[in-house]
Amino acid sequence: MEQDLIVLGRVLSFSASPFDAAGPEAAIDQYEAIALRGGKIVALGTKAALVKALPEAQIIDHGDKLIVPGFVDAHVHYPQTAIIASWGKRLIDWLNTYTFPEEMRFGDAGYAAEIAARYLDLTTACGTTTVASYCTIHPESVDALFQAAQARGQRVVAGKTCMDRNAPEGLRDTPQSAHDDSAALIQRWHGVDRITYAITPRFSPTSTPEQLDALGALWAAHPTCLMQTHLSEQLDEIEWVRSLYPEARDYLDTYEQFGLLGEGALFGHAIHLEPRERDRLREARASLIHCPTSNTFIGSGLFDMQGLIQEGQRIGLATDTGGGSSFSMLRTMAAAYEVAQLRGTPLHAAQLLWLATQGSATALGLQDKVGNLAVGMEADLVVLDLASTPAIAQRANRANDIWEALFPTLMMGDDRAISEVRINGRKAH
Ligand code: GUN
Ligand code: ZN
Repeated sequence: MEQDLIVLGRVLSFSASPFDAAGPEAAIDQYEAIALRGGKIVALGTKAALVKALPEAQIIDHGDKLIVPGFVDAHVHYPQTAIIASWGKRLIDWLNTYTFPEEMRFGDAGYAAEIAARYLDLTTACGTTTVASYCTIHPESVDALFQAAQARGQRVVAGKTCMDRNAPEGLRDTPQSAHDDSAALIQRWHGVDRITYAITPRFSPTSTPEQLDALGALWAAHPTCLMQTHLSEQLDEIEWVRSLYPEARDYLDTYEQFGLLGEGALFGHAIHLEPRERDRLREARASLIHCPTSNTFIGSGLFDMQGLIQEGQRIGLATDTGGGSSFSMLRTMAAAYEVAQLRGTPLHAAQLLWLATQGSATALGLQDKVGNLAVGMEADLVVLDLASTPAIAQRANRANDIWEALFPTLMMGDDRAISEVRINGRKAH
């Protein structure tokens, strides 16, 4: 048994959603100390109370640094790590020019392992402790990510990306092989350690109706799996979907008619939605994943955070690496703020932090495990230095409260603001 740990700092814990009517600041409690045992959070409180309760515990003091839940990145493509920040293309050309040639390489298990390790190193350094990732069509690419996560004790959601049309030779499966390969991966990995399998049709344009039907049947047979895909990212893409599925009522219907809409369905982007789509997404308790750096970088559009939250949608936040231009959830919170400002509806620091932690965890159905610092939750946490650069420090110095002190780090911070990361209670960075 590992030694109990008491971590001192300014510990933030959500007691409610900062989007609730009581207001953002009412949703958060502050503690002096948090106690960890065997990968779980066992107590929060004053230093005196925790030291009294756990006299044998090792004590680590982070002074006035902020202790927050590890960031949860709800939509990424780890195989796009090495092509992040590729210039000048919009979605379909960007996929064909940069993404598909790179994804072709992941049939090589050695390369997949190298990139999986690189990806988890880079994101851990940014304070991300849970990701939901697409892999490539190659089962080896899924094994590589899950093996790397398992070795680190890390909670990961991922799945084999399925594509049987409109992708190059070498990057296409079939309805049957997509079903069978995914089923074998579910057998091997789903529920092992901290691993969740997500059935992963890339998006309607790269799947035939037969493939979406086969994956809908697979999800029905394995309802505890998640299902992740893309929805209404760019206007050209939506037009293309209309021409490929002339019978469908809208983009969402291409998934809905094959059983790919429900609780546990994660729809990346979801920018240009029709009223019927919004109604059905809400009724089905599906999750919408906001990818702000990607939506500006690829030129996709401005997600309607305020409207979607108000109508009761479940929303997570994500980098969408490598369509997104950063591995960092801090940078992603800044972009979410900027996109919201362009729509005239600024987000509070507490709301940004919630989206990057409990919001994303809830979108992944993991709200009882990660995304908050509370008793019984898994011990994934980040220690934030709110004065990590001279520029940030001089602004934080002027702050009148904790939110004003945090906001410069959310807007201007990067991996230098990440003092320490604990995954499953263990120091990971
Ligand atoms: N739509 C289908 N595939 C992708 C992808 O890899 N990235 C983004 N941003 N959108 C997609
Ligand atoms: Zn994506």
